[in-house]
Amino acid sequence: MKNEYLPHPARIESIQRESFDTQTFKVIFVDEKLAKSFNYKPGQFMEISLLGMGEAPISITSSPSRKGCLEFTIRAMGKLTRAINQLKRGNVLYLRGPYGNSFSLEEVKGKDLYFIAGGIGLPPLRSVINTVFDKRENFGKVKILYGAKTPDELCFKEELKVWQKFPNTELLLTVDTQDKDWKGNVGVVTTLWEKTAMDGNQAIACVCGPPIMIRFVVQKLLESQFKEKNIHISLERYMKCGLGKCGHCNIGGKFVCIDGPVFTYSQIKELPAKEHVL
Ligand SMILES: Cc1cc2nc3c(=O)[nH]c(=O)nc-3n(C[C@H](O)[C@H](O)[C@H](O)COP(=O)(O)OP(=O)(O)OC[C@H]3O[C@@H](n4cnc5c(N)ncnc54)[C@H](O)[C@@H]3O)c2cc1C
Ligand code: FES
Repeated sequence: MKNEYLPHPARIESIQRESFDTQTFKVIFVDEKLAKSFNYKPGQFMEISLLGMGEAPISITSSPSRKGCLEFTIRAMGKLTRAINQLKRGNVLYLRGPYGNSFSLEEVKGKDLYFIAGGIGLPPLRSVINTVFDKRENFGKVKILYGAKTPDELCFKEELKVWQKFPNTELLLTVDTQDKDWKGNVGVVTTLWEKTAMDGNQAIACVCGPPIMIRFVVQKLLESQFKEKNIHISLERYMKCGLGKCGHCNIGGKFVCIDGPVFTYSQIKELPAKEHVL
């Protein structure tokens, strides 16, 4: 019988430093058959573990439209993520999944897309963004608004320059605290509203970041005429099983691990405990 909790070993192919506490790991399943057949959707996550260190949900940041390796961007927060950030190329970590729902791109063909991320909220959106860029002609305008605490803490610094060059695409960056080389905007991500037109009439917004940021971003999106059902938010809750069995991620009748992590704002508004979410 198939054991859903059994993780699969994956070898680290390369490691990219993003900031002082965050790295992107490119991994490939040791089992070649699994590596070839593995599929996922943008917005999904996997449970990643190391023996004796624990297990945690981590978003898949690579894009399913780019076959080969899987990528995860991991910030050292606790026992497991600190241990993963000590690993070297060739080391093995353990994966099970993919889990959760996804950002559905089929339903938003032809529409303008706004991606708004804070800090480590960009990795899950990167999976969607690169899927969109791989089929650029299927979508309208793309705007990416991204904020981090400092310039060092911006993830994917080289890739941001590539995104900027796509047609009909705008990338706006901001930091809370600048350094001597920073020439861009300083302030929280909502201050970027003053730098660009935010027209939500026919647009979809995808948002990921800390709850306080999401709360203020949603307020601004509603003021900019985005419809509640067109605001897609990726939520991070404490999880254990990832399979809808343990109840750790439960919010008012919904399981973030299987009903989410992506919810529309209209869904979140209906939750009885919505004040604990945003
Ligand atoms: C769907 C999803 C996707 C995610 N994607 C990513 C990702 O792409 N990259 C990434 O770096 N992280 C991601 N995370 C967050 C990551 O899973 C957590 O940071 C995880 O707890 C790290 O595990 P750890 O053992 O290293 O740290 P932990 O020991 O879990 O500690 C991490 C921090 O959380 C606090 N904490 C732990 N448990 C609790 C609790 N029950 N209540 C309150 N505070 C607690 C600790 O004090 C510490 O500050 C994601 C989480 C979810 C739910
Ligand atoms: S993490 Fe166990 S039910 Fe969601």
